[in-house]
Amino acid sequence: MKLFVDTGNIKEIAPLAALGILDGATTNPSLMAKEGGDPRAIIKSICDLVQGPVSAEVVATDADGMIREGRDLAAIDPHVVVKVPFTKAGVAACRTLAAEGTRVNVTLIFSAAQAWLAAKVGAAYVSPFVGRLDDIGATGMNLIQEIVDLFGHAGYETEVLVASVRNPIHVIEAGRMGAGVVTCPPSVIEQLFKHPLTDSGLERFLKDWEQAQGAKKA
Ligand code: E4P
Repeated sequence: MKLFVDTGNIKEIAPLAALGILDGATTNPSLMAKEGGDPRAIIKSICDLVQGPVSAEVVATDADGMIREGRDLAAIDPHVVVKVPFTKAGVAACRTLAAEGTRVNVTLIFSAAQAWLAAKVGAAYVSPFVGRLDDIGATGMNLIQEIVDLFGHAGYETEVLVASVRNPIHVIEAGRMGAGVVTCPPSVIEQLFKHPLTDSGLERFLKDWEQAQGAKKA
């Protein structure tokens, strides 16, 4: 399973990219709105850092506007994946952009039916939002299982990009279900590194080593 980082913040992305754990990145208008500066320049810098697919989202709501914006975003860097919301206009824009050879990520997916329609028009990725489903009392991960099963049976090449990830359990379940990609905020990636037994185990190793060195000197 590929790991993408879900942020528009270069300072957060750089150290993760340097570790070699990132396969790509996702942004959305809310994330980009938090960053100062030129959004195109930020997208370009993210592409240079991650050297993998970087989703940049359109803000137009009509198909022609989405197509225009999508072409403009795709021209920033070959790594750019154009992100469109799942609406009828988004589906139409996805069809046109995909036919032109642009990779499209259809976002705001909350049902397997929506994922299926996006796959039919050539989406490279669909982004089901698990955390936001959990927030309303549904089980977001059930949707991932449904889409993975559906795409597997139908033979679609569209990748399931698990989004709105809130914790490491979402990440591991996504991998076990066969999702192709998980996109995580930096805070969740940080949690993936943590285990209290690793910390206490290392502390013990170092303490034992120091004690033995002290004993040799005495
Ligand atoms: C995905 O591409 C979205 O940017 C993101 O995962 C949304 O997550 P949120 O529900 O935490 O805003």
